[in-house]
Amino acid sequence: MSDTVQVAVTGAAGNVAGALLFRLASGEVFGPSTRVVLRLLEVPAALPALSGVAMELLDSAFPLLADVVVTSSPSVAFDGASWALMLGSSPRRAGQSRADLLEANASVFVPQGRALAAHAASDVRVLVVGNPCNTNCLIARAQAPEIPSARWFAMTRLDENRAKAQLALRVGLPVREVTRLAIWGNHSSTQYPDAWNALISGRPAPVVVGDDEWLRSSFIPLVQERGAAIIAARGHSSVGSAASAVVDSVRALSYGTSAGDWTSLGVVSQGEYGVPEGLVFSYPVAVSASGTWSVVSDVPHSADALERLRVTTDELVAERDQVAKLLG
Ligand code: LMR
Repeated sequence: MSDTVQVAVTGAAGNVAGALLFRLASGEVFGPSTRVVLRLLEVPAALPALSGVAMELLDSAFPLLADVVVTSSPSVAFDGASWALMLGSSPRRAGQSRADLLEANASVFVPQGRALAAHAASDVRVLVVGNPCNTNCLIARAQAPEIPSARWFAMTRLDENRAKAQLALRVGLPVREVTRLAIWGNHSSTQYPDAWNALISGRPAPVVVGDDEWLRSSFIPLVQERGAAIIAARGHSSVGSAASAVVDSVRALSYGTSAGDWTSLGVVSQGEYGVPEGLVFSYPVAVSASGTWSVVSDVPHSADALERLRVTTDELVAERDQVAKLLG
């Protein structure tokens, strides 16, 4: 047994956490020789429910689960954390405007960003899942300039997984045959799921699919609207697939992406592909086995794709402008 990893999870009594925590505790994410301490954060009203989750974690007798901390204090939750999985956010309420939603989330992510800066481990990596995740990540990061920009992520792997699944279904091949599928931009209905640079069984996806019209008119909107379709079908947003995408994201950042492949992650833009510096923008990201990552360069785009990139970039700029007073 070599290490112990401290993992903070916010929104820990929520549905996604319910599907995620047991996978974190099992060793599936951090490997069979790493003990896990789960540091679970919730609002005070949800602490009774969270203590029930903690009881169930203990009752599972996971050999690798070293401790479970239950708290409503961000400073306790983030104390010594090497991973901060930010699932909690203020959900969108009926009739609420995007601006009000951003504002409501600021009250969550401003104090949490400050607590991360003050208490997390010096190697902390932060994955923001709670929506609107790109801009929530931007807000939290602005409170914590001490944490290097390369350690902040917003989750778009769920969109990538959805896109891969749809391409695989369309061509009747296993999903593992689909590689290099990048989500560009915002985790919202303006995202650009790029099938044109994806591969299926090593061949260009558009050639294998053989129907550009389907890719443009069906595939793209289906992926863009999948979150809304899940909400319509289930009455609440995605649970198991969101937890799975967290597992995939953390594993990719811990163990690397396969040679020649990439993963989708919202990262702090350094201006790549003309995106304004500092926006949290989803790109194709290649990760080394030791966890060093870089945005994949020179991915070619058609005029149609460039227009889609502009639309999602503009949306992120508008979100940034709406929370400008929080960004210092
Ligand atoms: C999803 O993509 O399933 C969610 O981010 C949707 C949502 O608004 O919660």
